[in-house]
Amino acid sequence: MDTTIFLALDFPTWKETEQFLQEHDLKGVPVKVGMELFYREGPSIIEKLKKDDHAIFLDLKLYDIPTTVQRAMRNLAGLGIDLVNVHALGGTEMMKAAKEGLVQGAQSDQTPMLIGVTVLTSMKQQTLQQELNVSFSVDEAVAHFAQMTRDAGADGVVCSALEVPKIKKICGSNFVTVTPGIRLVESSHDDQDRVATPKMATENGSDYLVIGRSITRASNPKAAYQRAVKECFHVH
Ligand code: C5P
Repeated sequence: MDTTIFLALDFPTWKETEQFLQEHDLKGVPVKVGMELFYREGPSIIEKLKKDDHAIFLDLKLYDIPTTVQRAMRNLAGLGIDLVNVHALGGTEMMKAAKEGLVQGAQSDQTPMLIGVTVLTSMKQQTLQQELNVSFSVDEAVAHFAQMTRDAGADGVVCSALEVPKIKKICGSNFVTVTPGIRLVESSHDDQDRVATPKMATENGSDYLVIGRSITRASNPKAAYQRAVKECFHVH
């Protein structure tokens, strides 16, 4: 499978989002809509993006009791999105309910993929162990949550590109990996902890890359996007 790059639309409003996509000729590329934009604009932003043929990863990281998540997913599936996620920490029952909701609410035969968040890519080992009092290492926690997510019938996980080989080994090659924490320049981390370049992520077997600031804050975002696509393409 070719690697798909989802451009993270981390903008405060639709106005800025549309302006950016228009100005840099990025209309129609796969995009990730997160909490910031969705909570401001509501579901109408999905309709607007779909009019321009964007594939959509709706990154709302749901985490609530199973019934609530099921009902919320039913509504979200009706928007015609392509991928949506939950925190694996919500447990197997919650993830199963999420999947059920997606199937119930799906438009025709297009059920959105359900993706679990294992451990946030910004999470440091020290925070996990000393602050959250989790005795696992980040690696162990990621492996455990990935397995749990697969067993619950979800389609894949969000993880660091560095964790992909291990996850594919544990969960099988068809289990989808979605990897944020991508940097076009290896030295730039921002607030992400476990980062990789598009080439490294693709070589590791990542199916979907999520890239935000490396493109949106580049002096030439279109060129940065194309460079990322090219890097992935050369690996295949
Ligand atoms: O700007 P940057 O490339 O770091 O953006 C990464 C995007 O992926 C952000 O929208 C962030 O919320 C999201 N994300 C993440 N780690 C996860 C899940 C989503 O960084 N585990």
